[in-house]
Amino acid sequence: MASLLTALFGLVSLASAQTAGTFNATTFNVAGLPPVLNGNDIPGDKTTNTARIGQLLSQHNIDIVNVQEDFNFHATLYANNDHPYRTATSGGVPFGSGLNTLSNYNWTNFQRVKWNVCSNFDSADCLTPKGFTFMRVTLADGVSLDAFNLHADAGTSAADLKARAANIQQVSDYIKTHSAGNAVLVFGDSNTRYTRADDNPGLFSKENGMTDAWVELAKGGVPPAPGSDALLCSNPSTTTDCEIVDKMWYRGSPAFALNATRFRYAGNMFLQADGNILSDHDPVLVDFEWSKNLQWSIGESFGGVDGTWFNDLDALSAVGAPSVASLTLRGSERLDAISATLSSGTVLSHGGSGGTAATLTLDAGETLKSAVLCRGNRNGKARIFSATITTSKSRTLTAGKATSDCATITAPQGYNMVGFYGHDGDEIDKLGFIYSRA
Ligand SMILES: *[C@@H]1O[C@H](CO)[C@@H](O)[C@H](O)[C@H]1NC(C)=O
Ligand SMILES: *[C@@H]1O[C@H](CO)[C@@H](O)[C@H](O)[C@H]1NC(C)=O
Ligand SMILES: *[C@@H]1O[C@H](CO)[C@@H](O)[C@H](O)[C@H]1NC(C)=O
Repeated sequence: MASLLTALFGLVSLASAQTAGTFNATTFNVAGLPPVLNGNDIPGDKTTNTARIGQLLSQHNIDIVNVQEDFNFHATLYANNDHPYRTATSGGVPFGSGLNTLSNYNWTNFQRVKWNVCSNFDSADCLTPKGFTFMRVTLADGVSLDAFNLHADAGTSAADLKARAANIQQVSDYIKTHSAGNAVLVFGDSNTRYTRADDNPGLFSKENGMTDAWVELAKGGVPPAPGSDALLCSNPSTTTDCEIVDKMWYRGSPAFALNATRFRYAGNMFLQADGNILSDHDPVLVDFEWSKNLQWSIGESFGGVDGTWFNDLDALSAVGAPSVASLTLRGSERLDAISATLSSGTVLSHGGSGGTAATLTLDAGETLKSAVLCRGNRNGKARIFSATITTSKSRTLTAGKATSDCATITAPQGYNMVGFYGHDGDEIDKLGFIYSRA
């Protein structure tokens, strides 16, 4: 009876799992510097204007909003807004970065990262610790999106152009390591223009496989040539043909397609009661749709938050229809490493070289079905202490020392475990499984 119920619940939860959806996102520089530093040439007072921005973000029910220059009027912004998930401020000038996110979706792994390079030549970019933020937004079960907010160096002196190019490169490099295999959305005040020859807004397309929603939907896929005449926008802009520095780039992942369906400059939705602008920046609003690729299923993960992100999804997707030929675990006190050799010859390997290795070679047709992972504390940080993996023939492979804090993870019906994602270093900090449809 119990197994019948479990089987029924398994079917029900699989049938009801969301496989497609839509959301919209906005980037908005809200001009929240103290007026003595920058009045932004906006009529009215900043407290009143910021209150209205907060209210309009709620009224328009925009799903994920990245704001920049959210400094000294931050409390007013949040007091007038009711998005359920919002980042805690990092402070006003000169302590904070001005970067915050207001969202209808929850997230994990929130990080604030400072620029490695800033320039004070123009626009005093070193006055505040500007940089970017990272969060892993949960769109649905097993569907997450790595969302970045950024505010790059301003100004056009040689030093500013150099600092700004370094900022964009820093985000691109971060994506390569921290978002491997994941869908990504970068939206913020890039201070870049395609028409400015020394700017590099094309970097995310070139190095991270991303698409600029403006280039795709407003420019027919062709960005303005570097150094070509700039077509500047009025604020609010009545056309999307012109370029602004506030931009949005995106990519899907092998696990789900992500597509921008509509691009807008939304300044006319964010006006004062008398029709005046609320900020010197025009907000960008993009509608997205996503749909799961049912070849893959991304399971829950278990463990700590330290170590470096790894994700086998790109390698698995290159194989196409992977099957595991052998599994190796290393461990003694904790789980040191996990690796799988696929029938294609591809080796997926994570963790270090400590502990003792144990290998299970799978029979023809035998697959990996479930795992028990136990977690413990190592120097105050959670790590995986042991793993036991069970095959479709009920054979098991174990490494490490079990604790009392364990999770049982089972492949969804019709799927096999074929690879891994998580965080590692010398050992395994966090572990999750990637499943392929049988
Ligand atoms: C954004 O999407 C949400 C639903 O996801 C919808 O309720 C809202 O009206 C949309 N906002 C705009 C301005 O299109
Ligand atoms: C949102 O996610 C965080 C983890 O990042 C979690 O601690 C919190 O409970 C979640 N909130 C809700 C309402 O699910
Ligand atoms: C949607 O995005 C996927 C990649 O995420 C791409 O392969 C597909 O061609 C896109 N579809 C459309 C209609 O643009």
